[in-house]
Amino acid sequence: MNKVSAVYTLESARSDRGEVWVADSGWDALGAWVAEHDGVVWMIYDRSVEGVAEHIDHALAGRGVRVLGRHPMQVSESVKCLESLSGLYTAMAQTQVTRDAWVLAVGGGVLTDLGGYAAASYLRGVRWIAVPTTLLAQVDAAIGGKVAVNLAEGKNLVGAFHLPRLVYISPDVLATLPLREWRTGLGEIVKSALIEGGPLWQRLSQGAPPIGTMNDEWRWIIARTAEIKIDIVNRDLEERGERMFLNFGHTLAHAIEQMAGYGHFSHGQAVAMGSRLALYLSEQMLGLDPGVRLTVDSWLRRWELDIALPELRYDALEPVLLRDKKARQFGLQWVLLKEPGQPRVVRDVPAGMVAEGLRRLAREHKA
Ligand SMILES: NC(=O)c1ccc[n+]([C@@H]2O[C@H](COP(=O)([O-])OP(=O)(O)OC[C@H]3O[C@@H](n4cnc5c(N)ncnc54)[C@H](O)[C@@H]3O)[C@@H](O)[C@H]2O)c1
Ligand SMILES: [Zn+2]
Repeated sequence: MNKVSAVYTLESARSDRGEVWVADSGWDALGAWVAEHDGVVWMIYDRSVEGVAEHIDHALAGRGVRVLGRHPMQVSESVKCLESLSGLYTAMAQTQVTRDAWVLAVGGGVLTDLGGYAAASYLRGVRWIAVPTTLLAQVDAAIGGKVAVNLAEGKNLVGAFHLPRLVYISPDVLATLPLREWRTGLGEIVKSALIEGGPLWQRLSQGAPPIGTMNDEWRWIIARTAEIKIDIVNRDLEERGERMFLNFGHTLAHAIEQMAGYGHFSHGQAVAMGSRLALYLSEQMLGLDPGVRLTVDSWLRRWELDIALPELRYDALEPVLLRDKKARQFGLQWVLLKEPGQPRVVRDVPAGMVAEGLRRLAREHKA
């Protein structure tokens, strides 16, 4: 029997509701929840968390929940595509998944995005549950109902807003997560601490804990980071305003990931670099205290996040920045900080200032 230590509720304008649970350990509470919401389950899971899928199976069986089918997948970013989706639809049709079934997606952000989109589109929408198993998915990807697959032309071009009715976060599953994957999620933790400026910012400012080991401090950090996203999403499910703050550090991050080729930098490294640039621009544009950047740098050193910003010429970068979906619509906009906890969307950052920021950060890191 396990406890759930934190429960949050997500609500959308269309009156969907989703719960986000942070579990102390074990899977029985998940089994009990599904049993209470009477349904059968169709499970898609990442092969690298086979053990987790087995525990979940057990917990479901223990509560008398029938599992219609289990669909393991070998995961990499490239499986988040239309071909995999088509394979999922076929498997769902063959196992006779009906509209009262639950799609249960167990894995990192790739699987929750793919499984979530399959659930959003199959039979015009089947209810789904996310069990995120990477740090990035626990604090970000599985929360908020954005689900998608990639096209050759770009990431996340086909997707939907489809809230999982339950996100079941068990931080203990990160015990097997490689350090590189921990680092992938740390960018979101930095970002969330900066836009929150409250308990998470304060706790990390007292000294960031080392990564790789699950303990109460990390459980708290994961729950708090998830809660920050939940609060913002609750106020702006469809990304018309405040949800943009979650893009802090991401304007540059997306561009460098694209320029370097996906996978060259982890998303966490790219967001850390993007956050440092955003902090520099915040100092220039909004008078942010430069001490904030020093504090963040101390976390990045502790986590050994390599933030050697490649030499980037602004004239090569700008067209990539402008290719972004939102930039095309609204022009280039930066999420900057007046102070921790006070993010602002700024549209008139001079190109020369961005170029100077890039030069400085590249030089600083070499020194
Ligand atoms: N929907 C959203 O709001 C949102 C937000 C951020 C990111 N994303 C998406 O998330 C994806 C990236 O997610 P990710 O970083 O979790 O990648 P991922 O799902 O590819 O997982 C990373 C690696 O870790 C392995 N893995 C997963 N759980 C494990 C565990 N507990 N132990 C050991 N290995 C494990 C996976 O097999 C994979 O090799 C991207 O496609 C991105 O677009 C979506
Ligand atoms: Zn991100």
